[in-house]
Amino acid sequence: MSVVHTDTIPVASEADVVVVRRRVREVAIKVGLSLVDQTKLVTAASELARNTVIYGGGGSLLLESLNGPRLGVRLTFVDQGPGIPDLELAMRDGFTTGTGLGLGLGGAKRLVNEFEIQSTVGRGTRVALTRWK
Ligand SMILES: Nc1ncnc2c1ncn2[C@@H]1O[C@H](COP(=O)(O)OP(=O)(O)OP(=O)(O)O)[C@@H](O)[C@H]1O
Ligand SMILES: [Mg+2]
Repeated sequence: MSVVHTDTIPVASEADVVVVRRRVREVAIKVGLSLVDQTKLVTAASELARNTVIYGGGGSLLLESLNGPRLGVRLTFVDQGPGIPDLELAMRDGFTTGTGLGLGLGGAKRLVNEFEIQSTVGRGTRVALTRWK
């Protein structure tokens, strides 16, 4: 697998979430994802970006377009926030420590082809999503 294009953008405010949505849409279009798949990826990205801002205290997004043998988009959200003590619980639909519905992580996982989450309490959280063409 090769990464053909890569970019890092800040994810620290609600305004940044808007930029994330736009940039993800652009990369998804370039890679040739269908309109439905573009929207799935943008929706997933939006949930992760919001978590990065709200719970992670801000962070960044690594945007990668992939080529060879398959075309796809990989998004990696990274923050150096408090981390998630129980990942299994956090992934469960309906679990929230905030004021949301607790559907962001589970929903995002269902909208992509690959979903990886790593978190260390006191160090931060990293979530990687891939949507293949
Ligand atoms: N980057 C993060 N850093 C620390 N904790 C996080 C992070 N992302 C998620 N969490 C924790 O995981 C929980 C579940 O996240 P999820 O996105 O599923 O739900 P939510 O954000 O609480 O609500 P919703 O996304 O439906 O508005 C959060 O309430 C929070 O406790
Ligand atoms: Mg959320």
